[in-house]
Amino acid sequence: MQFYIQTFGCQMNENDSRLLASLLQSNGYTEVDAPEKAGVIIINTCCVRENAENKALGYLGSIKKLYEEDRSRIIVICGCMMQQKGMAETIKSKYRYVKIIMGTFSASRLPEYIAEVSATGRSIIDVEEHYDGTELKHTCATVEEALDGDYKAQVNISYGCNNFCSYCIVPYVRGRERSRSAADILEEIQLLAEYGVKEVQLLGQNVNSYGKDLPEEQACDFAALLAQVCQVPGIQRVRYMTSHPRDFSRHLVDVIQENPKVCRHFHLPLQAGCDELLQRMNRGYTTAYYGELLSYIRSRVPDAVVTTDLIVGFPGETEEQFRQTLDFIRECRFDAAYTFIYSQRSGTPAAKMPEQIPEDVKKDRLQRLMDVQNEISLEHNRQMLGKIYEVMVEGLSKNNKSMLSGRTEGNKIVVFPAPEDEELHPGDCLKVRITGAHTWNLEGELVSSFESVCETEC
Ligand code: SAH
Ligand code: SF4
Ligand code: F3S
Repeated sequence: MQFYIQTFGCQMNENDSRLLASLLQSNGYTEVDAPEKAGVIIINTCCVRENAENKALGYLGSIKKLYEEDRSRIIVICGCMMQQKGMAETIKSKYRYVKIIMGTFSASRLPEYIAEVSATGRSIIDVEEHYDGTELKHTCATVEEALDGDYKAQVNISYGCNNFCSYCIVPYVRGRERSRSAADILEEIQLLAEYGVKEVQLLGQNVNSYGKDLPEEQACDFAALLAQVCQVPGIQRVRYMTSHPRDFSRHLVDVIQENPKVCRHFHLPLQAGCDELLQRMNRGYTTAYYGELLSYIRSRVPDAVVTTDLIVGFPGETEEQFRQTLDFIRECRFDAAYTFIYSQRSGTPAAKMPEQIPEDVKKDRLQRLMDVQNEISLEHNRQMLGKIYEVMVEGLSKNNKSMLSGRTEGNKIVVFPAPEDEELHPGDCLKVRITGAHTWNLEGELVSSFESVCETEC
C-alpha cells in the first residue's frame, strides 16, 4: 500500500513524520509524493498558533474529495493538535471520513492501527498519554529509508516540556519532560554516522534541562551529552534546538567553546524585551539576566551567531512595553529573529488574561518589529562580506539550478556557483568567500574544497 504524509509544525513534527514514514516503509508500505497516489493519507498537525491549526483543517477539508473518489482510502490525522482537550471528538464528528485519530504519544503504533482499520473498517482514536518507551527513533531496520541518502539527521534527546510559559500549548500536548538516556541517544547517533550522517541536530523543547529527570545511574546533563556526541566518529557538525535562556549555564557555553564540532549558532528565544511581560509569560528570567548571558556567549565565542524568537501582542502589552522590546533587540543585535503574533491558545493561562490585544495593533507591532530586526540582520550579513566561511553543501539552490546552496556553522544560507571541474555532494565542507549580503541569505564564491582539512578542523 502507498502512503503520503503532510506535515505541519516544528522540527520535532518533521522528525516524527520522517521516522513514521521509515517505520511504515519497513512494514512494506511505499511513500509517494502526492495524496492522489496514496491509499493512506497522514496529516501530522501542529497547534502552537491558530494559523497552524487552520492550515491543518484546511488541508483535511481539501482531501475529502479524494476519500469520496475512493472510500477505501485511509485518512489519518495525528500530532499535537489531536492531543488537545475535546479535539479528537470534534474531528470525529465533523470529519467523518477520518479513520485514525492519533496523538503524540502513540505514533509508533500507526502500522498496527492501519492494519486494524484495513481489516475491520472501524475507526480508531488513540489520544492517551502512553509512556511505554515505544517512541519513534532511527533503528537498524528503518535508518536507510529515513535518511534516504541525506547527510544530516535529527535525534530527540527529550520529549515534552515542564516550563508552562503562560502562552504556550506545547506542555499540554507533548506532556511532561522525559529525557532519553545518553546511551540510547549515542547509540542512535552512532548508527546514523555509520550510514553517512555528518550533521546531527539534537531536539528537545528545552535541551538545556536535559537529564534532570534521569535516574542517578544514568546521570548526564546537556553539556556532558554534547561533548560525547562530538566524539562520535564521522559526526562533523552538532546542532541543538531549542535552548531556554534560564537554563543555559556558563559551563555549557564553555563546553561549546571547547568543542569545535558544536556549531557556533545560539538560538536563544527571548520572547519579549520587557521584564513585566517576561514575568507574566512565566519565562523565569529578566532582560538584565538575558543581556549578561549574551555578553558571556559573545566574550567566549566571538564568532557566535545569535538568533531568537519574539512574540508581539501578548495580553496587556502596552505601546511602552512593546517599545522596550524594540530597544532591547537593538541592544542585543540578533543575527535573525523568528517573530510571531501572539495567538490565544485555549487551556493556557494567557488565554484567560484580560486585555487581549486587537488584531490590527498586533499586526502593526509585528511589522515595526520586523523592520527593526531586518535592518540589524542585514548589517550582520554585510559584516561577513569578503570573509571566508566553512559551508556545508545542502544541494542545488531552489531558485537557480546552476547554483549550490549550503549553510555556515551559524546556520546562514549561502548560495554560490557550482564548480565546473568538480562534482560536489550534499554534506561536503567547503571554503566560501562571501560576495553578496541580503537580509535572509548570502552569496559567495568557492575558495577551495577542503574535505581533507575538514577532517581535523571542523
Ligand atoms: N520550546 C521551544 C519552542 C516552542 S514553540 C522554545 O521554548 O523556544 C516556538 C515558538 O513559538 C516559541 O519560542 C514562541 O516564540 C512561539 N509561540 C509559542 N506559543 C505561542 C503563541 N501562543 N502565540 C504566538 N507564538 C507562540
Ligand atoms: Fe512552550 Fe515555553 Fe516549553 Fe518552549 S519552553 S515549549 S515556549 S512552554
Ligand atoms: Fe507545533 Fe507541536 Fe511543534 S504544537 S511547534 S508541532 S511541538
